[in-house]
Amino acid sequence: QADVFTYDPGFTSTAACESAITYIDGDLGELLYRGYPIEQLAEKSSHVEVCYLLMYGELPTAAQLSDFTQRITRHTMVHEQMHNFFRGFRRDSHPMATMVGVVGAMSAFYHDSLDINDPWHREVASIRMIAKLPTIAAMAYKYSIGQPFVYPKNALSYAGNFLNMCFAVPTEEYVVSPVLEKAMDRIMMLHADHEQNASTSTVRLAGSSGANPFACIAAGIACLWGPAHGGANQACLEMLRQIGSVERIPEFIARAKDKNDPFRLMGFGHRVYKNFDPRARVMKESADEVLGLLGIENNETLQVAKELEKIALEDEYFVSKKLYPNVDFYSGIILEAMGFPTSMFTPIFAISRTIGWISQWKEMISDPAGKIGRPRQLYIGPEKRDYVDLRNR
Ligand code: SDX
Repeated sequence: QADVFTYDPGFTSTAACESAITYIDGDLGELLYRGYPIEQLAEKSSHVEVCYLLMYGELPTAAQLSDFTQRITRHTMVHEQMHNFFRGFRRDSHPMATMVGVVGAMSAFYHDSLDINDPWHREVASIRMIAKLPTIAAMAYKYSIGQPFVYPKNALSYAGNFLNMCFAVPTEEYVVSPVLEKAMDRIMMLHADHEQNASTSTVRLAGSSGANPFACIAAGIACLWGPAHGGANQACLEMLRQIGSVERIPEFIARAKDKNDPFRLMGFGHRVYKNFDPRARVMKESADEVLGLLGIENNETLQVAKELEKIALEDEYFVSKKLYPNVDFYSGIILEAMGFPTSMFTPIFAISRTIGWISQWKEMISDPAGKIGRPRQLYIGPEKRDYVDLRNR
């Protein structure tokens, strides 16, 4: 009887799958990675250590962390022939378009040598993805601005290496700022996983057919691009710029409430959190830290964001709808302050979420109970009927 889908007007959704990776309590505003609160990890851990935790289920020992870091570091270069894929794109292509294409193309380079039914091959594919996605995102950025690709540097940290690949140029030394490196590492940690969100469900669904992991991650990147999902960080910063000043906030608050106006406050609301997104709190602290360091704490965009958050949290409409700032509300402000264009915000979300996609894919492949398989539907179309000849229509 498991197949019978009984439509419940209250639509109490049935669980799509079992997972032991991430837990969210939307009412409490709680997010746990393998049981550890995101606030503690953001303060004490690192993105690479969180990658280990999400993938293997436990915090690593010093030796395990060192070995894991080394395996990732030594796979950060992409096959030299992959450079050619970028040249097939227009220079002004959105970096997410390039990433979908190039990550999908990884199937042609690495998939044939892998058997996803072999646990060791799954491990190899996972390490390659974690290692190479930042390189591909940085190459997409460099290509879009007409600068030469920058190779990974094994002496740098995971976050520092990404900043270097994005901002270094052959003509002068680029020094990675420790504050920006820490802020980037924290952004990556905060975006690492988020249970069965749209892009993770896409990766699981693609993986449940036995498709190769590179193609599954490319599908996840495509889904993340949407403005209601990972594209919200870019849409949110563009919205803050459109508002432009604290004085214009009431105009946009009114539009967000107007059912006839498609405008929504980007960076607000969440499918699960009906309380503060815990990641937004940490992100807000980082925004103050980074902009303070850069001496731009009076940045107009940050002032508009803080005032908009304050007004929205006191406004009866948003309180009644339980609309709070989400992870995307402050991340764009930090990334812009670091020097990234808005087009790079979602690619940075994608490289951060790679570990979540990979961990959930591995969990699903190795545990039949984790397979989403084929979602059922409720048919609401016409009753069965006979064909009508053209002359009788
Ligand atoms: C991410 O799933 C994940 O975990 C995703 C994510 C992750 O880490 O993977 O957390 C990342 O995608 C965060 C969300 C980023 N998206 C945005 O910031 C875009 C703006 N937000 C909305 O599009 C919306 O809030 C959603 C899509 C995020 C959530 O939609 P829901 O839960 O289905 O809520 P809804 O659309 O049904 O809205 C409920 C009510 C509606 O009013 P009524 O129809 O009940 O009268 O709230 C209103 C909506 O009109 N509403 C908003 C609003 N979001 C919801 N009104 C104004 N501005 C908004 N942002």
